[in-house]
Amino acid sequence: MSQTLLTNATLACIDGTAGYGLRENAALLVDAGRIAWIGSTRDCPVSTSSSTASSSATTAAGDVEVYDCGGKLVTPGLIDCHTHLVYGGDRADEFEMRLEGASYAEIAEGGGGIVSTVNATRAASVEQLFEQARPRVLQLMSEGLTTVEIKSGYGLDSEHEMKMLRVAAMIESELDLRVVKTFLGAHALPSEYAGRSDAYIDQVCNEMLPAAHAAGLVDAVDVFIESIAFSVEQGERVFAVAQELGLPVKAHVEQLSDLGGAVMAAQHGALSVDHIEYLQAKDVAHLATHNCVAVLLPGAFYVLREQQLPPLAALRDHNVAIALASDSNPGSSPLHSLLLTMNMACTLFRMTPAEALRGITLNGARALGLEHKIGSLEPGKLADLVVWDVDRPAMLSYRIGMNPCVAVMQAGNWRQPVQEVST
Ligand code: NIG
Ligand code: FE
Repeated sequence: MSQTLLTNATLACIDGTAGYGLRENAALLVDAGRIAWIGSTRDCPVSTSSSTASSSATTAAGDVEVYDCGGKLVTPGLIDCHTHLVYGGDRADEFEMRLEGASYAEIAEGGGGIVSTVNATRAASVEQLFEQARPRVLQLMSEGLTTVEIKSGYGLDSEHEMKMLRVAAMIESELDLRVVKTFLGAHALPSEYAGRSDAYIDQVCNEMLPAAHAAGLVDAVDVFIESIAFSVEQGERVFAVAQELGLPVKAHVEQLSDLGGAVMAAQHGALSVDHIEYLQAKDVAHLATHNCVAVLLPGAFYVLREQQLPPLAALRDHNVAIALASDSNPGSSPLHSLLLTMNMACTLFRMTPAEALRGITLNGARALGLEHKIGSLEPGKLADLVVWDVDRPAMLSYRIGMNPCVAVMQAGNWRQPVQEVST
């Protein structure tokens, strides 16, 4: 069956430039994996006479599958545009150390942090990494995730960075999910290069990135610019190579201090700058000028007990697109929920529920350069959508620890069996 018609839906289309793009009593027609039409249930372009009026029922009307939403909310499929979901081991011991007073930077400088995950990741096989990542990904998928970005960055040499990216590719092929693979070789300095960070960046630029790209494993390139990672100049060198290879770039910047990484990244046409708690309001105009998305990561803010808020007022004043992501990783954000990410963005950053939903849909798509394909309910886009057992979108940000997701459609196919099917 190539056509599906959703009727009696409350659609949060996330079209236009702000708000939910709410349509009550709406219908949406899916044809060959794409959204073909959106309108009122009254004006359905196909006959729905054989469908029942009961909630969440599917029926066949001719060769069109009809799904009666019974007033439930339908949103675009959720997009997590910044994760480090593939890794070996865990860092629960560092969580305990931080609670006893050690800082994230102190742990990193003492040989823990990212580097300790590197050891566990290098020791694991592709299959082991996949098995460890699978429950994390399934947890996110249970809340309507349809697209996820997954970074490398715990391998830190050609062999292990490519191994991580192969696991990301495997997640896409095995788990019915769209995956964007990002090369983050410049995430931390591996211990074998201690004191020789320029030599490591040479290795990233001359060998690691070109090899991963040649293997078809790279969709985008990220760098971590911070005192515990790499300088603005080193990040710029990686960007130059990425751009020679025709790859989009993005950056972890201004997470712990203001080094000027966001301005440099925006000037290089980066898709996004991520974290940015320490970005100064005066520099936000650069993001607007270069159409660069601000990706906020409330999970890392929360876990690290950060006090410095990202410059939200300036981002709004300059109409910078704000995306949200889980930053799911073993150190700063062991978070596997985009619903909780939305709640945290509202509570911690005072974002509105409408901004939060846009942050994990359309603006998440923008941060991945995919806004022409996904992120909103608009004719022509891929039919990635979620049906939620709530009557209005603020419920998604408001409740903590409830998952009202009842059905997920990915590119026109229902991912999980639709309940209450009647034939
Ligand atoms: O986005 N900031 C750098 N990278 C990750 C943390 C990774 C880790 O601690 O393992 C982040 O927060
Ligand atoms: Fe990150």
